[in-house]
Amino acid sequence: MARVEPEQNSIFATEMGEKNTLLLQALAGEMTPRPPVWVMRQAGRILPEYRAVRSRLSGFKELVETPELACEVTLQPVDLLGVDAAILFSDILVVPEAMGLPYELIEKVGPRFPETIGSAADLKRLHPVEPEEHLKYVLDAMRMTRRALDERVPLIGFAGAPWTIFCYMIEGGGSKEWSRARRMLRSEPALAEDLLDRITEATIAYLNAQVEAGAQALQLFDSWAGALDATLFERYSLPRLRRICEEVKGAPLIVFAKGAGWQLDRLATLPCQALGIDWHTPVAEARRRAPEHVLQGNLDPSTLYGTETEVRAATQRMLKDFGRGKHVVNLGHGVYPDIDPDRVRAFIDEVKRSGD
Ligand code: CP3
Repeated sequence: MARVEPEQNSIFATEMGEKNTLLLQALAGEMTPRPPVWVMRQAGRILPEYRAVRSRLSGFKELVETPELACEVTLQPVDLLGVDAAILFSDILVVPEAMGLPYELIEKVGPRFPETIGSAADLKRLHPVEPEEHLKYVLDAMRMTRRALDERVPLIGFAGAPWTIFCYMIEGGGSKEWSRARRMLRSEPALAEDLLDRITEATIAYLNAQVEAGAQALQLFDSWAGALDATLFERYSLPRLRRICEEVKGAPLIVFAKGAGWQLDRLATLPCQALGIDWHTPVAEARRRAPEHVLQGNLDPSTLYGTETEVRAATQRMLKDFGRGKHVVNLGHGVYPDIDPDRVRAFIDEVKRSGD
């Protein structure tokens, strides 16, 4: 294993206001003085400073579509929480919109698509995505944020996985069971494959454009992978994840298939650098089933409802379970909106102290 010499040591470098490349080193499989830490959904949700920006605007979409504002809230968790990476403030739903299916975000309800895909005729509404045309606001925000970060921490880009985006395009909003989307896989497999392939094409173009615009690492969120059984996952989700891994170039990729820890031996066949795991997946089992990959996760976000002492103890236990190396510290899913930012700070601080 490569030893990090003091002058390259990213912890000291950060303190001196220089480059913190811990995430990129860890994703490259290098040994680091401590694991990097960032938090899924760190931008937005929990920070009062985010809500202050948000309250001045007409809505969420104005924030996502205005690069200066998206840049500002992307930097907030770097400054206010001390995370080792920034993730661009945006949403996975910008991709279906770029394909021709606009979304709305309804306060306290969630995303809604006024039009959905229900038949082959509906596919005619969709078109291929030209990222610099249809998603220019995201790429502008990426360029601006990369410049504003000035190499302090790496910048993560992201997209939803085809199956997860498909879910929203079919259902028109959130769902517990995703039964309409799963019915489509069973009753109209050709239509389902067609739509999933179109999403895959758009996602490949989009992620490559994000790298071009400055993303230094990428995450693919398959948030609803857990709704699929082994046969459906194998046919509809996994081959598209594989295509994205193969065709997106220039930055390490983290694949996070939430609720699909029991599929880790299949996920471990993907040519990506890292796999995200949720808190249902025992770390030792994940290591056994995906021995080559860097693993990201996996503290239960509800741990952060505990006392500071409990948060620190649980973080220590998790670090011990993962052992040294090949670990990017994160929660097992996005941080919940009502979690106290001080508990998130305790979680991050405990990881940082592990390098002392
Ligand atoms: O902190 C970050 O990582 C910021 C960027 C980000 C957002 N959404 C901002 C957002 C990211 C990475 C996402 C990903 C996302 N969006 C996923 C995958 C991750 C996961 O949690 O599984 C999914 C499924 C979505 C779809 C989505 N967008 C939902 C279900 C909602 C409703 C409420 C919520 O907070 O989840 C959104 C809206 C949304 N996206 C908000 C934010 C900050 C809330 C908007 C607001 O009212 O300000």
